[in-house]
Amino acid sequence: MFDTMTMVKAFGWLCGALLIYLLINWAGESLYAMDAGGHGEENAMGYAIEVAESGDGGEAEEDTGPSFEEVFASADAASGERVFGKCKACHKLDGTDGTGPHLNGVVNRAIGGVDGFAYSDGMASHGGEWTPEALSAFLENPKGFISGTKMSFAGLRKIEDRADVIAYLQAQQ
Ligand code: HEC
Repeated sequence: MFDTMTMVKAFGWLCGALLIYLLINWAGESLYAMDAGGHGEENAMGYAIEVAESGDGGEAEEDTGPSFEEVFASADAASGERVFGKCKACHKLDGTDGTGPHLNGVVNRAIGGVDGFAYSDGMASHGGEWTPEALSAFLENPKGFISGTKMSFAGLRKIEDRADVIAYLQAQQ
């Protein structure tokens, strides 16, 4: 049975808990207000966090392997010629077009830039140049890089294959 004393104690606990809850809330809010007010401090904190994050990003990059630039720097055009075997059904290197436009001179050529080739709208209106980086992104996932492209090719998943074939194409002028 609850006697009066128990009731009073229970009420006391409840009030105490509520008071502590309010105090914590208030302390939290006033801390937040201080941060928001002190702009200098806020920026300093933001900067510190940024540095920590970019540190993490660096590690993550190491996990995913070397960048395209690094792989491309030591690319092997001879093995790129073998990779180009996958492109030959549609692409020629003698300045004439087949299912796809000719690819001699494609490195640093305007995207969709061969006169007289009937490009898809996506390719024709993309703009920009076929830098080695752009070629790598396109060859990794053609439809991801240019939506609506009519190049029916699944893509080269291996970064070495992309770097090698681009090095080979760079030598075909
Ligand atoms: C099944 C045929 C086919 C295969 C295989 C193919 N392509 Fe293509 N490629 C095309 C077509 C078609 C286009 C034009 C796409 C468009 O207009 O959207 C094209 C466009 C391109 C372009 C853009 C050229 C420009 O003038 O803007 C590049 C670069 C390219 N292909 C590289 C390659 C490479 C490298 C391979 C092999 C790894 C390859 N393609 C395999 C059909 C193919």
